[in-house]
Amino acid sequence: MTAKAKPAGITSLQQEGRVFKPSKEFSKGAHIKSLAHYKKLYSESVKSPDKFWAKQAANELVWFKPWKTVCQWKEPVAKWFVGGQLNVSHNCLDRWLNTPHANKAALIWEGEPEAPGKAGEVRTLTYKQLHREVCLFANVLKRNGIKRGDRVMIYLPMLAEAAVAMLACTRIGAVHSVVFGGFSAQSVADRIFDCQAKLVITADGGFRRGSVVPLKRNVDEALTLKDSQGDRLAKTIEKVIVLRRAGNEVAIEEGRDVWWHQEMECVDAQCVAEKMDSEAPLFILYTSGSTGKPKGILHTTGGYLLGAKMTSKYVFDLRDEDVYWCTADVGWVTGHSYVVYGPLANGATSLIYEGAPNFPEPDRFWRIVEKYGVTILYTAPTAIRAFMKWGVEWPKKHDLRSLRLLGSVGEPINPEAWLWYHENIGGKRCPIVDTWWQTETGGIMITPLPGATPTKPGSATLPFFGIVPEVVDEAGKPVPRNTGGKLIVRKPWPFMLRGLWGDPQRYKEVYWSEVKGCYFTGDGCRQDKDGYFWIVGRIDDVLNVAGHRIGTAEVESAIVSNPKVAEAAVVGRPDDLKGQALVAFVILKTGVKPEPALREEIRQQVAKEIGPVAKPDDIRFVEALPKTRSGKIMRRLLKQIAAGVEIKGDTTTLEDINVLAKLSQAEE
Ligand code: PRX
Repeated sequence: MTAKAKPAGITSLQQEGRVFKPSKEFSKGAHIKSLAHYKKLYSESVKSPDKFWAKQAANELVWFKPWKTVCQWKEPVAKWFVGGQLNVSHNCLDRWLNTPHANKAALIWEGEPEAPGKAGEVRTLTYKQLHREVCLFANVLKRNGIKRGDRVMIYLPMLAEAAVAMLACTRIGAVHSVVFGGFSAQSVADRIFDCQAKLVITADGGFRRGSVVPLKRNVDEALTLKDSQGDRLAKTIEKVIVLRRAGNEVAIEEGRDVWWHQEMECVDAQCVAEKMDSEAPLFILYTSGSTGKPKGILHTTGGYLLGAKMTSKYVFDLRDEDVYWCTADVGWVTGHSYVVYGPLANGATSLIYEGAPNFPEPDRFWRIVEKYGVTILYTAPTAIRAFMKWGVEWPKKHDLRSLRLLGSVGEPINPEAWLWYHENIGGKRCPIVDTWWQTETGGIMITPLPGATPTKPGSATLPFFGIVPEVVDEAGKPVPRNTGGKLIVRKPWPFMLRGLWGDPQRYKEVYWSEVKGCYFTGDGCRQDKDGYFWIVGRIDDVLNVAGHRIGTAEVESAIVSNPKVAEAAVVGRPDDLKGQALVAFVILKTGVKPEPALREEIRQQVAKEIGPVAKPDDIRFVEALPKTRSGKIMRRLLKQIAAGVEIKGDTTTLEDINVLAKLSQAEE
């Protein structure tokens, strides 16, 4: 997609011009009560960033040792709160123990399965109970050989135990890397290899839309997979901790695999939180980039936690009495910052739901909102569009009056979806915060503050405190208002990524080379006359499918690993539900017939290599791909063909013009 392209999924209401001001009632009780209040704080935050962040870090976090330097910036390496020491699990748990929060629900969890007429399983953990579980499990990790700095892979369903596992790692200074349960054995193996993890935490299986995802079986397979030299990818793994969840049968390898519940019985509940340097690695989270190899985004301790805490507090306007629900999976960064760390660092109640929004029926979310009196709901546009499709009768069946604030994340929200959300879920009374950010940014960067910022459907509005985004042209110069360009961030911020695990060169090239001295987001954007940011979508070879970030190169390499395939090119086309859908143009090897069954074979191959989320929606067998004379695939043209629109723009660099005519006629 180019910066000027039509945003994914946006249709007739692209020009929706209404402005929605926060209600007086909402503003009165909010942390930030007016636009003037926001502007004053924002201006202080960017004029004297060190002073601003030092004050916030001192107020918001508990430090074992104060820092000496607020920010050390030697491009592209940032260090925040240098010399300071703290512990994330201490800040999320221990600090609430001798306060009235101790017996407040930290997590409310609801499982997916429901028997007819019988509600799903529910579990509530107070701060005190969660603290105990985390201490126990931290001791389990130690008992299984995990020490400070070791990497631990977490491959779990959406269970309270996922949060327990993450927090237990942070308690002893281990670095976690969560892999989304929808990813394949191959993805698990590749990630283990990349970060040289010592231990995997998984479950027998997880429930998803009524069926069981065999997580442990995937781990078993991951541990056998080999690289091209015949070397086992996951040979660093010494132990696998298995949680009993779905009750499906699993193989247990003596000496390697242990059961979570049995281990918990062997340890005591005392576990002192390690004093960690502010810059100690906290977690690695893999995300797609424009090459075939996922990037291990590294976040560290102090700056990340400050960002998660402050953005949760101000963007969601968190209050003690809130029941806050972010529907993201912990396998994504949203689950890290806004299911676990942000809410718990604020002493909030965070709800976790295990399963699908339409299981057993399309009103599951609304039933949950009603049942627990959810006050804040944070979800993705792709989910909102699915709810629109399923029909308004489902939310209408439920009392949603507890809701006071709605959030959106993951992709541009089209104004129709925004308005539907506002009207049918928010009852026209809830502000909507459309939050723009990335795995790399660690926390929310561009967003309304609900008591302060007038919102415009489709715009993420204005920057968070201390963040200096800008829209620039090809040469890196700021563009005039209302002109499309690349979105960059001018200054380092505490919760930015610290690097790509084991690949400093790629970190520099991808993020700090596009525009001198600035962080390059990979997104296209424009700013309107009021300075509001309108994100257009990715301008690199990364697609956003149903809120999941997928690299076209990764999918292409999965497709060509099928011996019948000679070459493949993957592009996105606008999709009403998913934002973007994947279209693969595939050239088969000579003599291979383009049979329909081969499409399914290729789709399965992608599911196996990456995970079901990356399966192409559309596979077109073609004889050739449009290439420049230097052999580069002209994706711009493929995108137009995939979208079924007229081919526009320069085609003179095309090596063989006949290819286009053939592609347009290609069998769909
Ligand atoms: O293109 C932007 C889009 O999602 C990308 C980041 O994806 P990921 O690292 O997986 O993180 C998703 C959760 C933060 C961005 O580069 N994106 C995210 N939020 C928005 C968005 N696009 C438009 N509006 C948003 N609110």
